[in-house]
Amino acid sequence: MSRDIIRIFDTTLRDGEQAPGCSMNLSEKLLLARQLERLGVDVIEAGFPIASEGDFESVRAIADELTRTTICGLARTDPKDIDRAAEALQHAKKPRIHTFIATSDIHLEHKLRMSREQVLAEVDRSVRQARGYCDDVEFSAEDATRSDIDYLVQVFTTAIEAGASTCNVPDTVGYTQPEEYARLISTLRERVPGAENVVFAVHCHNDLGLAVSNSLAAVLAGARQVECTVNGIGERAGNTSMEEVVMAIKTRPDVFQGLDTNIVTTEIYPASRLLSSTIGVPVQPNKAIVGDNAFAHEAGIHQDGVLKAAITYEIMTPQSIGRPSNEIVLGKHSGRHAFRDRLGELGIELEGEDFEMAFRRFKDLADKKKNIYNEDIEAIATDSVTQTDDRFELGDLSILSGTFAKPTATVELRVDGESRRATALGIGPVDAVFKAIADMTETKSELLRFQVNAITGGMDALGEVSVTVSEDGRRVIGHGAHSDIIVASGKAYVHALNRLAWHKSRHDVTEPKGI
Ligand code: KIV
Ligand code: ZN
Repeated sequence: MSRDIIRIFDTTLRDGEQAPGCSMNLSEKLLLARQLERLGVDVIEAGFPIASEGDFESVRAIADELTRTTICGLARTDPKDIDRAAEALQHAKKPRIHTFIATSDIHLEHKLRMSREQVLAEVDRSVRQARGYCDDVEFSAEDATRSDIDYLVQVFTTAIEAGASTCNVPDTVGYTQPEEYARLISTLRERVPGAENVVFAVHCHNDLGLAVSNSLAAVLAGARQVECTVNGIGERAGNTSMEEVVMAIKTRPDVFQGLDTNIVTTEIYPASRLLSSTIGVPVQPNKAIVGDNAFAHEAGIHQDGVLKAAITYEIMTPQSIGRPSNEIVLGKHSGRHAFRDRLGELGIELEGEDFEMAFRRFKDLADKKKNIYNEDIEAIATDSVTQTDDRFELGDLSILSGTFAKPTATVELRVDGESRRATALGIGPVDAVFKAIADMTETKSELLRFQVNAITGGMDALGEVSVTVSEDGRRVIGHGAHSDIIVASGKAYVHALNRLAWHKSRHDVTEPKGI
């Protein structure tokens, strides 16, 4: 029996990136996009080109580089949005324009202030305009699950007549329930003329914790594209988690008969780790599939069962999602080859000088520390990637501290390529370092949160610091790792300030993104 493919539409770089603290710069998005292509997703929604210069450049760079995956740019129905999306996708091998407008009376009345007829006209015009640029056009009826069903039928009929080949039915506010959503998809497939010639897509938010269940129920009702994100990141409570949907379909062929995805499941864990180390947002330990404890059997009775036969308590193997079987990874005798292999398992590709730098740091650390864990390697790799768009680069720093010395820090920093040095006093050594950095960068940001973790166990563990800073309502997270936690703190702070600077250099649209 030939298998029906459920397309995986990954929106980590668009809807996922909109979540607080999850924003990424251009080089980070490119790294993620390469891993998403290795993972085998069918479509990468790379950004919202009209939203900002940064979004435009990211979509363009990803569209220019990737050739196997469809690259999609989001656009409201506004003609300028669609032109901008088309421009960003100009060199894409497989471009898709994704246009959307809200269809619920709540949104029409309170947000758009438009009549149903006006919205229908927008759907028709925008899809035709997008079709003028490419054959692959997706239309989304925002807040579909709170829209009137008769009107929704009209909306999708209009979109299909205008040339849309994918009709997306978003549960924008995470409101629906599995049976209800499945019924909605079945009704639309029955009642919309031409439905058999297009793909129905689902896009769920997780406000009630039902995004994955709702998406899977919709698949059983005939949806053939699932929109999702790595680790389920996204607005508010997040989006549908890619790894959970994919592994549910794979693990239960008896339920999802004749259905499959194109995902290379052994790339799931590397994608999850890469995202988490890039944005500095850890995965909750009990997260299904990719959490630290997802395959950890603590209870004696379970351990005994798994040792006798893994099938007693494991419904899938860690290897099937690409989890390195071995927790202690490398030591001082490990060579380049082993180091490169391990980076690959963690979803990290470093080339040229970046690789050499990471390898040197790995060797230095291996001299100080007996066992090098995956988390150590991720920290080293994150530090070694050349960030061409960074304004600030931390140089040397020294501190004086103790029970009778007044905490004092002297810090060197490159600001836009120019070397600076400052000395500051503080309440403690971290405070002194931050004051010196704030002085040289002239930042107006506020430090909201400061967190220190030992990356791995043991006295020789690397310290990892995360800081959250905000300025003008924009909140970013920076992270840094080092065997000295004061240095790790300085790195984390500089990382956060670089992120803020990057956002400032993007010209955000005056109107909110409205999603
Ligand atoms: O949640 C939503 O409705 C969206 C649309 C743009 C698809 O993200
Ligand atoms: Zn969404």
